[in-house]
Amino acid sequence: MMPTLSAMLTSRMGDGTGKHEAAYLNTIELLINAFRAGSMIDIGCGMGRITQLGAGKIVELVALEPDAARCNWTRELVLDIPGVSVLELATSDFIAQNPDKTFDLSVLGMVLQHMPTNYCPGLMEDVATLTRPGGLAIISTTHALEKAKCFTYQDVSDARVSEEEFNAYASKTDAQDKGLPVHRFSRTELEALVPDSFEIAQWTQYSYFRPEFLQRFANVHQVEPEEIANVGNSQFLVLRKK
Ligand SMILES: C[S@@+](CC[C@H](N)C(=O)[O-])C[C@H]1O[C@@H](n2cnc3c(N)ncnc32)[C@H](O)[C@@H]1O
Repeated sequence: MMPTLSAMLTSRMGDGTGKHEAAYLNTIELLINAFRAGSMIDIGCGMGRITQLGAGKIVELVALEPDAARCNWTRELVLDIPGVSVLELATSDFIAQNPDKTFDLSVLGMVLQHMPTNYCPGLMEDVATLTRPGGLAIISTTHALEKAKCFTYQDVSDARVSEEEFNAYASKTDAQDKGLPVHRFSRTELEALVPDSFEIAQWTQYSYFRPEFLQRFANVHQVEPEEIANVGNSQFLVLRKK
């Protein structure tokens, strides 16, 4: 049986049995603790795993999820926890309804790589609008070497499609027969999306390939195994709003 993606990745922390995303999740927990008395927005909360980290810890937490089923799922998870609102809204709708509202901490976790490329700059501007001056945002997404950045599909991971084809597929959310669209971002591509109103405080790669699966990932990334031996499958930025 094919191991799950999680089973093929490692945090490289301790004996490697912990969560492969530990570097990212630990940073979110640190920031939640730093802003305990303040506010946080989880943008594109999906099934609520980041929302759950903040719920009951930070005084005010808003989670946005435009997909009704995922929104309801997350709402159920945090139903009895005070200070949490889970809203069936995209950022643009929330900003229109709450024009002056800003947060100490904004999280955009694993959203960008599934979006049409022409949607990403506006979404990042929305993150900036929602973050107060001096506040922080954390943005996570896929990561690939510059030469291995590409557009592909979750269920056909060695496919390579043009940006145009990717965007057309990513826009048809009701007919994605090859799984989610996946944009494998290089670091340069991600940093190029950062609005001028932010400064980059930190860049980190995480979720490394376990050595026994390196050849498999090398095939997927179309590189030699040694080229990705020290490359994380994901990356995050911590941004400070000027
Ligand atoms: C892959 S899920 C990520 C879930 C979650 N953040 C996590 O890390 O587990 C991406 C989610 O972003 C949502 N999304 C896309 N554009 C959005 C926007 N402008 N505002 C809020 N959510 C958005 C999608 O509906 C989708 O559920």
